[in-house]
Amino acid sequence: MNNRRDWLKKVSLGAVGLGFCHFETFANTPSEKYIFPDLEQSPILLRSNENPYGPSPLAREAMQKSINNSNRYGWNLSGELISLIAKKNNVSDRNILLGAGSTEILDLVLQYTALQKGNFVLAETTFDYWTFPSKKLGLKKITVPLTADKKHDLSAMFKAIDADTKMVYICNPNNPTGTICDRDQLVSFIKEASKKAIVFVDEAYLDFTKEESLSNLVIENKNLIVTKTFSKMYGLAGARIGYAVAASSTIDELSALKSAPNLSVSLVSIAAAIASLKDEKFIKEVHSLNENVKKYTIEQLTKLNLTCIPSHSNFVYFSLDNYKKDFFKQLENHNIQGTKIYEENGKWTRITIGTMKEMQQFIEAIK
Ligand SMILES: Cc1ncc(COP(=O)(O)O)c(C=O)c1O
Repeated sequence: MNNRRDWLKKVSLGAVGLGFCHFETFANTPSEKYIFPDLEQSPILLRSNENPYGPSPLAREAMQKSINNSNRYGWNLSGELISLIAKKNNVSDRNILLGAGSTEILDLVLQYTALQKGNFVLAETTFDYWTFPSKKLGLKKITVPLTADKKHDLSAMFKAIDADTKMVYICNPNNPTGTICDRDQLVSFIKEASKKAIVFVDEAYLDFTKEESLSNLVIENKNLIVTKTFSKMYGLAGARIGYAVAASSTIDELSALKSAPNLSVSLVSIAAAIASLKDEKFIKEVHSLNENVKKYTIEQLTKLNLTCIPSHSNFVYFSLDNYKKDFFKQLENHNIQGTKIYEENGKWTRITIGTMKEMQQFIEAIK
């Protein structure tokens, strides 16, 4: 009987999730108006830098409508999205390649790099899950330590480039540290390094800053590839949509590794991305909510005597060196999912910025 009640409850909450009810009916505080009640009952997910407020209301509506057209391929709609993305990045349609999440683009760049064998250079510590296949593909990985303040050490990375280097990866802002490169220094780095290898800039988190993207530099530089994603600021991690911006000849080279370029993203996800790009109100709100909740989180962690790195993203990197309890056990006991220790020296870990309520629960859990 209980099971049946639970099941009915789940079904009705699922209906809310599908938008059969107006979700703002459940609004309580302004910062929580985007959250469905069923999501609140889940474990608190502070692990994967997802947006706790998204998808945007316009994206949810567009996804529901596009379900009815899912019997058709999304050629026309992907063309519309590519044009919108090109406009946003001040480039032309020929400079864009869509992927099922930016992970697909990361994989593709790795495969493209592997065609020439050799090595690639990246920071230690950075986002590197996508590099797991590199060994199998015959690529050597060269890692360069971060600076003491957890930033990319661009001059050391430049020095690490040798005759066999085919690609250099810069995650900007960097995951998991949240640091950002000085724009002028990065532009100079790209200018010089791209004479020797492909420079691959991952801007998955740049939307959380007020910094300008480097994407329009690709017009004059065929050795620069920039990736972006709808998974973070736009709240579409599960929809799987991201893209590359590069010179048209480079887009052609990457596309040649695929049987059907731009076709790995579903029509529903494309519709969501188009609507998201138009929902400026939602993006503004997420930006400011993230800033406020991040400020609160850093203040509270600092009060607990935990050193935090200033963050240009939707997560915070902090040291557990001064923490006396078992941090991960505390999270587990309170049904909160965090990450891991990224650097043993200093016991550095990362926490995603959730809603204010989630971060208050997180701080209570570790007190
Ligand atoms: C820096 C960075 N790049 C790329 C990705 C991949 O994201 P997605 O495949 O969802 O676009 C992530 C995911 O966490 C990330 O942190």
